[in-house]
Amino acid sequence: MNMTGVADIIVTKAKQSKLKDMDLKNLPFGKFFTDHMLEVDYENGEWKNAEIKPYQPLLLEPSLAALHYGQAIFEGIKAYKNAEGEAYIFRPYDNFRRFNISAARMEMPEVPEELFMEGMRMLVDIDSNWIPNLKDHALYIRPFMFSTDEMIGVRASEKYKFMIILSPTGPYYSAPMRINVEEKYVRAVPGGIGFAKVAGNYGSAMYATSQARKQGYDQVLWMDALEHRYVQECGTMNVFFLIGDTAVTPNLDEGTILAGVTRDSVITLLKEIGYKVEERPISIDEIIAAYKAGTLRDVFGTGTAATISLMKELKYKDYIMQFDVDSWKAAPEVKRRMDAIKYGLEPDNHGWMYKI
Ligand SMILES: Cc1ncc(COP(=O)(O)O)c(C=O)c1O
Repeated sequence: MNMTGVADIIVTKAKQSKLKDMDLKNLPFGKFFTDHMLEVDYENGEWKNAEIKPYQPLLLEPSLAALHYGQAIFEGIKAYKNAEGEAYIFRPYDNFRRFNISAARMEMPEVPEELFMEGMRMLVDIDSNWIPNLKDHALYIRPFMFSTDEMIGVRASEKYKFMIILSPTGPYYSAPMRINVEEKYVRAVPGGIGFAKVAGNYGSAMYATSQARKQGYDQVLWMDALEHRYVQECGTMNVFFLIGDTAVTPNLDEGTILAGVTRDSVITLLKEIGYKVEERPISIDEIIAAYKAGTLRDVFGTGTAATISLMKELKYKDYIMQFDVDSWKAAPEVKRRMDAIKYGLEPDNHGWMYKI
């Protein structure tokens, strides 16, 4: 691998910043992008042409392999500013590692740590004025890689592009969700790509999600593909069920669930607060039994976008479970602690915040 040195990343600054036309308050998620982007090519076994340049369209051949055969992976990370205006990224090494796990599964080249981390750090630093200095706001970081062979033929591409773009986002207000437990369609199977952050996982989820929306539900709760009994994930979030004083979340062993960075952080914080946490298979029957027994409390999803999203209703076949989310204690306390760490209001005892 040739491309290791930071000096290899060329920086071409935008002539003008778009920031003067922007109001960084209450922005929608993923709609606006900063002044710059990182673009790197992989060719002949080497990473090359690493450049931070003005955010701009790409010129691509219609035969581009990614558009046909779907070697495309991505990550989602957030940068924050504390009260002193210092910029930090939340747990970026975890996303870096997950990115290369996705790459390996899709027969794509790994991105060297220095290129990923330093490319991201330099880009966020150059566009650091775009990190909103406001509560509940952040700069969303989207690293992605796709195959760029210009040839129609089903085989792993020889060329790739690795890129990072940045999007300032406002508060992610997610009202407590109504969830449909999905009985027919599946997101992931053992031996498949559920554990990887692959574009196709999201494309294949859209039909079931639209069907649920038509029936007035916000998201689907994915079940295991073989028995339709065990819970996997909710939309693009990991899930937690507090039963008594034990938080249960599906274990990752089968490779059907994305190992969420938020999931891992929530497990740590729940334990610190004093809850027991079990990572194990959890069936819909167990959830219904706990609901009937009155021991099912906080039910929530976790992810980078919203941190924690409460569920107020779960529908399984004709059975509807409704929850009094206002009475919950665990999920709000975890969110409060996590936000306090992200915005520098409480000490970061876990080394989660990476200074720009
Ligand atoms: C399918 C899926 N599950 C879970 C998550 C949550 O992962 P994280 O907490 O790393 O954002 C995401 C979002 O990245 C996701 O897309």
